[in-house]
Amino acid sequence: MDHTTLGRTGVRVSVMGLGCGGPSRLGQSYGNSETDSVEIVRAALAHGVTFFDTSEAYGTEEILGRGLRGERRESVVISTKMSSWNGDAPASRVRAALEDSLRRLGTDYVDVYHIHGLASSRYAHAVAELVPEMLKLRDEGKLRFIGVTETFSSDPGHEMLQQAVQDDCWDIIMVGFNILNQSARERVFATTREKDIGVLIMFAVRRALRDPANLREALADLSERRLVEPDATSGDGALDFLIHDGGATSLQDAAYRFCRYEPGVHVVLSGTGDALHLESNAASLGRPPLREEDTARLREMFARVDDVSGN
Ligand SMILES: NC(=O)c1ccc[n+]([C@@H]2O[C@H](COP(=O)([O-])OP(=O)(O)OC[C@H]3O[C@@H](n4cnc5c(N)ncnc54)[C@H](OP(=O)(O)O)[C@@H]3O)[C@@H](O)[C@H]2O)c1
Repeated sequence: MDHTTLGRTGVRVSVMGLGCGGPSRLGQSYGNSETDSVEIVRAALAHGVTFFDTSEAYGTEEILGRGLRGERRESVVISTKMSSWNGDAPASRVRAALEDSLRRLGTDYVDVYHIHGLASSRYAHAVAELVPEMLKLRDEGKLRFIGVTETFSSDPGHEMLQQAVQDDCWDIIMVGFNILNQSARERVFATTREKDIGVLIMFAVRRALRDPANLREALADLSERRLVEPDATSGDGALDFLIHDGGATSLQDAAYRFCRYEPGVHVVLSGTGDALHLESNAASLGRPPLREEDTARLREMFARVDDVSGN
C-alpha cells in the first residue's frame, strides 16, 4: 500500500481509505453480520490501509472500534463525523456527539472530526457556532483535525465546499469526485492545492460505476441532456476503451485509479463489505496512473458535467 501526506496536517496515511458508510456500510446494508464487517476492517489493515472513515450516522463506529482493537492507536487514522442535517445544531451538540462517537469507537481521541453532509445554507451557522466548539475539543486533545464533508448527491456542483475552501479553519475536506463528475477539479482542488488542505474522495465508484446497467442509465441521461456527446457515450461499452493491456483491468479499477492520480487528492475512500472487492480495490489503488490518452479522453468526455453524483 502506498502512503501520502494528508496535506498540511502532515499526517502520513495510506492512499486508500476504508469507507465504513456509503451503500455498503461494511456490508451491514445487505446482511453481513457484525463479525463479517469486523473482518473487513481486519482485512483492510492486512492490506496496509491506515485510514478509516465512519460517522455517527452509519451505525459502524462500534464495528470499526472492534476491528481496530489491538492496533497501536498511533498506527491508524480514524475519521468520524457529526450529522448536520437535523436543523442548525447548538454548539453543545458537538461535544455530546463526539463523546458518543469516542465511546462507540473505544478510543479517547479521533484524528479527524467532520461536520457531515453540510448544506451550503447551513455553512455560516457551522462556522459561527460549531467550529469554535470543535477547536476547543481539539485543544482538549479529543480530536486532532477538523473537517467538513459535502452532500454530493444534492450538491454535485460543490456549492458548500466552494465556500469552505475560502476559510482557513478546515484542515481536511471530503469531496465527491469520479469519472462522471469531475467538477471538483476547478471548483475545489484548485484552492485546496494552493492551501494544502487534505482531500478525501468519496463516490469514486458508488452506484453508477459498479454496475453496467446503472452506468448505461447515467450515460443515457447525460446524453439526452447534451452534457456528453451522444456518439461517444451510447451503447453498452462506452467506457470499454479504458480496459486494455497496460490500461485498466475493470471499470472499478479505472474508477479508483482515475481518482487516485488526480492532482490534489490524498486519500480515495473505498466503501465495501465484500472481501474480494476490498482486495481488488487495494490492488487498483496500488497500480500506476491510467494511460494519459485515456485520462485525457475522460476529461474531455465529461468536461461539462457538474450535476450528477453517480449515486
Ligand atoms: N457526505 C459524506 O460525508 C459521505 C457521503 C458518502 C460517502 N462517504 C464516505 O465515503 C466512503 C466512500 O463512499 P462509497 O462507500 O460510496 O464508496 P465507493 O467505493 O465509491 O462505492 C461503494 C459501492 O461500490 C461497491 N463496490 C466497491 N468495490 C467494488 C468492486 N471492486 N466491484 C464492484 N462493486 C464495488 C460497493 O459494494 P460492495 O459492498 O458490494 O463492494 C458499494 O456499493 C463511504 O464509505 C463513507 O465513509 C461520506
